[in-house]
Amino acid sequence: MSVLIDSFYLLSAVLFIIGLKNLGSPKTARKGNLYAMIGMLIAIVVTLIDKSILHYTYIIAGIVVGGAIGAYAAKVVEMTSMPQMVALFNGFGGAASTFVALSEYLADVERGEAFLFSNELIITIVLSILIGTVTFFGSLIAFAKLQGLMSGAPIVFKGQQATNALLLLVTFALAYMLMQDASQIELIYVIIGLAAVLGILSVIPIGGADMPVVISLLNSYSGLAAAATGFVLNNNVLIISGALVGASGLILTNIMCKAMNRSLANVLFAAVGTSDSSGQMARGDKSKVTEYSAEDAAMVLDSASSLIIVPGYGLAVAQAQHVLQELAQILMDRGVKVRYAIHPVAGRMPGHMNVLLAEANVPYDLLVEMDDINEDFQNTDIALVIGANDVINPAARTDKDSPLYGMPILNVDQAKSVMIVKRSLSPGFAGVDNSLFYDPKTMMLFGDAKKMVTDLVKELKDL
Ligand code: TAP
Repeated sequence: MSVLIDSFYLLSAVLFIIGLKNLGSPKTARKGNLYAMIGMLIAIVVTLIDKSILHYTYIIAGIVVGGAIGAYAAKVVEMTSMPQMVALFNGFGGAASTFVALSEYLADVERGEAFLFSNELIITIVLSILIGTVTFFGSLIAFAKLQGLMSGAPIVFKGQQATNALLLLVTFALAYMLMQDASQIELIYVIIGLAAVLGILSVIPIGGADMPVVISLLNSYSGLAAAATGFVLNNNVLIISGALVGASGLILTNIMCKAMNRSLANVLFAAVGTSDSSGQMARGDKSKVTEYSAEDAAMVLDSASSLIIVPGYGLAVAQAQHVLQELAQILMDRGVKVRYAIHPVAGRMPGHMNVLLAEANVPYDLLVEMDDINEDFQNTDIALVIGANDVINPAARTDKDSPLYGMPILNVDQAKSVMIVKRSLSPGFAGVDNSLFYDPKTMMLFGDAKKMVTDLVKELKDL
């Protein structure tokens, strides 16, 4: 029986890995999701058959209640609020690991089997509880910052890092004491308390702008907690899937850091960002920019032969992706070469623009990654920027004092003409002014992205 079960677990693991591989490209991402879902279904069904389950009441109740909450949340959440939903789900993953390891420990102690605990088992139980609890409380803080329930500004105090290090040291000391006598239940509860404080203290000094990176890191933690729980339960598929989540979360964190040209240490400890992640104050002098109406801009677009569209966070806020695709289609039908330039950290979560444009059925081959399209801007008639700002800010190349300095940007400024759709001259996420707005070849189209692009479509149709 156990060979059969392990074979199914192996099949699940293979499906997870193929799923992850397919998630690497927008073209195959749906297929990847499907493979991973089938892998998870197999793992769940096999586990339910495998273990000596006394009754299914709580399991079915958990599946129904949890499934209903998850499905409802996924249905109603706005695309722009996806990062905080992912934060919550990561947090629950961490909490689940804590509860499973805790219940396994308590059940054994209750049966009077504490003397049977090996040092290895205690280490895995403590790791599972420690990482799971840090993930849960850290994720709650990340959620609260992104949801605006608390300020996105870093909360920093003297000796913060030293306090965190002390908390970790005390936790390890308690784990050592447990190894001497595993029946000291109170020590486990103290470890949970310390881990909760550590989770909160680790995330509060990080600015709201960096939360997506932190969420990806917490996702990685939730995987590590699950892998540790897999060792506690002696469950192979949990160990493998936890390790996969841990590794992929870490890789994603690294990709985001690279795209912002920052180290992980800088994100975690430099307390970057001073305000909330949204609602920058309007500023800038509109009399110094060249403002275009939709009517004039439509005429310019109609006479172009090549166009690169640069989507950003504002496109997601305005939900203008469908009408933008309509605009692109009209221009393509008139012989204009149209492509979309995708910056790795445009928007507020990894792959944000890909998901948004896929929702509007933009063909995948029109989406071109930054490195592959940057050279082409200089040969392009118009770069049409919709609600993007930081990812096109030339200060990232030239201004050593700018928080954006060193971040790779899209070479929008090299296009023959630039059109920027946004509501005002307000800065983007990084809170930095953008000199491109004042460039003589830049046409500013002020307005909500959906309204402005709808007007452009209407004007183009009238031409
Ligand atoms: P931002 O630099 O944040 O700029 C977005 C612009 O959209 C704003 O300047 C805003 O200007 C405009 N906007 C907002 N609502 C709009 C609407 N309804 N219609 C039209 N325009 C609207 O966005 P970006 O260029 O996409 O850059 C992303 C930023 O987030 C980067 O700094 C990046 O480092 C950071 N970040 C991203 C990630 C990931 S993984 N994507 C992770 C961490 C940090 P107005 O207010 O004038 O309209």
